[in-house]
Amino acid sequence: MESSRKNIAHFGIITAKYSGLYTDENDVKTGKEIVEDSACRRCHIIGAKGENSAVSLDYRAKIHTGEYLADKLINTNEYMPDFHFSDRDVTKIIKYLLFASSGTVQKEAEPYVAYIKTSDDDVFGKHCGNCHKVITRQSGGKGTGEIARNLSGLFSQYFDSDVLQEGDDRWTPELLLKWVRNPRSINKTTIMPPVNLSKNEESDLSKLFENK
Ligand code: HEC
Ligand code: HEC
Repeated sequence: MESSRKNIAHFGIITAKYSGLYTDENDVKTGKEIVEDSACRRCHIIGAKGENSAVSLDYRAKIHTGEYLADKLINTNEYMPDFHFSDRDVTKIIKYLLFASSGTVQKEAEPYVAYIKTSDDDVFGKHCGNCHKVITRQSGGKGTGEIARNLSGLFSQYFDSDVLQEGDDRWTPELLLKWVRNPRSINKTTIMPPVNLSKNEESDLSKLFENK
């Protein structure tokens, strides 16, 4: 597995390609905008803000070179969405990640999960995983679906919903169950079908997305 590869310590080393991170203000600004538009913080901590279902990029930006991080952004892990960024955008994003991490306090803030597929013998695997994926802190990655989005960080302020309407600006456990029972009660034109869950499964689903 890639992530278990031995880390070569690059602590604080900035290579030539990214050395402009304190002077190329426009690149860093564009990188920041892309990171915000892509909602990277629903999975990662960046500049001391964000969710920690996936690795802290503040920490990773300290221990890896920009080249290493860029490679991971292009050749993504199974549970990180492939954004198909251009090489130019990748360079700007990496400059921003290095910049954002530079002022932060570094402590090992890694979540204790493996980003590998775990058992699908649970409510998500049975009822959602054909269409979606999610990363959970309790048990790593779930689901194999590519046709709908990765739902990691659903309840966080960083998740940018495609379907919630004015008035509901953020997913809550109540809204999620309402959605699963009948997606069209929340968005009239959505293409997700209703999913029938037992009471126990509904409670398991809420816990899974609480992601404690
Ligand atoms: C749905 C959750 C999710 C989202 C959204 C996400 N990532 Fe990731 N990312 C992951 C996972 C999972 C890994 C794999 C971590 C590992 O292998 O240890 C990862 C790894 C990375 C790595 C490599 C870190 C390392 O040290 O190996 C970088 C860089 C990265 N992501 C950047 C980004 C950026 C930039 C964005 C937004 C454009 C983003 N990610 C959005 C889940 C996500
Ligand atoms: C048959 C495939 C399918 C299954 C099964 C499925 N979904 Fe979906 N889901 C979708 C599609 C497609 C969308 C995008 C809907 C749209 O944009 O109109 C979606 C959207 C969502 C969203 C909205 C994300 C956003 O952008 O705000 C949530 C939340 C969600 N699904 C949760 C679930 C959960 C939880 C389950 C299991 C209980 C589940 N889905 C099962 C296909 C599926």
